[in-house]
Amino acid sequence: MKRLAVFFTALLFGAAAAAAPLKPSHNAVASAQPFATRAGMQVLQEGGNAFDAAVAVSAALAVVEPYSSGLGGGGFWLLHVAKPDRNIFIDGREYAPAAATPTMYQDKQGNVIPGASLNGPLSAAIPGEPAALVYLNRKYGRLSLAQDLAPAIRLAREGFPLDPLFHSMIATRVNKLKRWPAAAAVFLPHGRVPPTGYLLKQPDLARTLELLAKQGDAGFYQGRLAKEMVDAVRANGGIWSLADLRDYRVKARQPLVGEYHGMKIISAPPSSSGGIVLIEALNILSGYDLADDSGLMQKHLIIEAMRYAYRDRADYLGDPDFVKMPIARLLSPYYAAGLRVSILPDQATPSRDLAPVTAMAPESRHTTHISILDKEGNRVAATFTVNFRFGSGFMPPHTGVILNDEMDDFVSKPGVPNGFGLVGNAANAIAPHKRPLSSMTPTFLETRHGLAILGTPGGSRIISMVLLGALDYFNGGDAKSIVSIPRYHMQYLPDVVFYEPGAFTPDEITGLVKMGYTLRQVHPYGNMQAITWDYKTGKVTAASDPRDIGTAEVR
Ligand code: GLY
Repeated sequence: MKRLAVFFTALLFGAAAAAAPLKPSHNAVASAQPFATRAGMQVLQEGGNAFDAAVAVSAALAVVEPYSSGLGGGGFWLLHVAKPDRNIFIDGREYAPAAATPTMYQDKQGNVIPGASLNGPLSAAIPGEPAALVYLNRKYGRLSLAQDLAPAIRLAREGFPLDPLFHSMIATRVNKLKRWPAAAAVFLPHGRVPPTGYLLKQPDLARTLELLAKQGDAGFYQGRLAKEMVDAVRANGGIWSLADLRDYRVKARQPLVGEYHGMKIISAPPSSSGGIVLIEALNILSGYDLADDSGLMQKHLIIEAMRYAYRDRADYLGDPDFVKMPIARLLSPYYAAGLRVSILPDQATPSRDLAPVTAMAPESRHTTHISILDKEGNRVAATFTVNFRFGSGFMPPHTGVILNDEMDDFVSKPGVPNGFGLVGNAANAIAPHKRPLSSMTPTFLETRHGLAILGTPGGSRIISMVLLGALDYFNGGDAKSIVSIPRYHMQYLPDVVFYEPGAFTPDEITGLVKMGYTLRQVHPYGNMQAITWDYKTGKVTAASDPRDIGTAEVR
């Protein structure tokens, strides 16, 4: 293991800003669903830019992948505007209703009520995606909102054949969906799970999208639709008010910027934990020359970097509009150097020797990511969600919109793990109009030779997946390689390394166990979408995760 003087890394390598490249040769879109990828390509061919395409793909996913994201949810849209050259982060994360309290999911004895933050209208925060799409279109798009939403409206009105994945998503959530008549009417026609190939039409959702297209924000957050949502939520145990909807705004934030051996990382700031954990882990790894290390040593160091960075997530992070966070310290190379000192070359660090507590939930299929590059060099990396599969399961009648269960991303009680097994403390406690801490990590990577656009769903594992993707890109991987490489994950507690088949060689498994690691093989996970652009050759590559049904197109 070779230790480099991390303090000087930034000085030695400088920022990764490359010589201004020519424009990309092609447009590229990667998303988790073929109809959504096509919607993005269609809008680009009609003269739209990457931001129009992002609106079109996001809205189409609300129709064809509503178990992952939708108008009832929220997320993050990381943008690179080619001219003038700048990065912007649109925080369209949901916020808590004004009537929310820190103990709203606890019983009188102070125990967390199982499932209360995960099911039904009480688990739903105020959606951010509709406002984000309007903002994205109005501020950065070239086409009208109606043009950007047209493919999604058509998919909702005319229907599309149910794919095997959608079929299985409904099949695993029958109990959640059948509790709520409007959701059951759409996803369980005649009370049954529709077969693969069934033409799924969503006329209410088409009308909601049309209202958004015609009236912008007001179509969703005010007027008839808002009243229908609030009435339905309140009639079923929720606490939304009309003012909660009316007052919702997206936040335009500065993305976080870090560096790894000269590669620039542009990623999600709070209210996501993604960028901080990613950059902190890469800062720790910057002090090593992984290329000189054995496979076993590389894995050991990467797992330790994950452990330390995830630990800080639990301790410090929350909504930046509500909590003060030591972001500068967490992202400082000196801080990383301090952490590195306690990483032993031949032993796993016991997580119990560090601090707070978490447990790990099984991987759940939810959340979605899109990556887009247009021929002008504009880019979008966006990750958005309704949280767990089909969110809260609740659909206010006549809206076609499944509401999220994003309130579960708050801390219901300090030390008690959420649905992802993550714990936290006061920094992520529930408060009126506060945004719950996320792990979503839409990211750009820039080197002297090119760039990558990447991200994935996967709950708490999102950040470790993006970390492995970033290291693969640094080592020369193209989009296909970035989305395909076998994955492993450590989130500090439980003190277990989860790994996909093939992530470690038999010798590495023996070596890691000898060092003191507890390893657990898990099913393949994640659904990464990536695009790369090589400045020198002009080549654009795009790929959708082979673990799933998504598609990527370069045209
Ligand atoms: N709802 C999952 C996340 O935002 O991390």
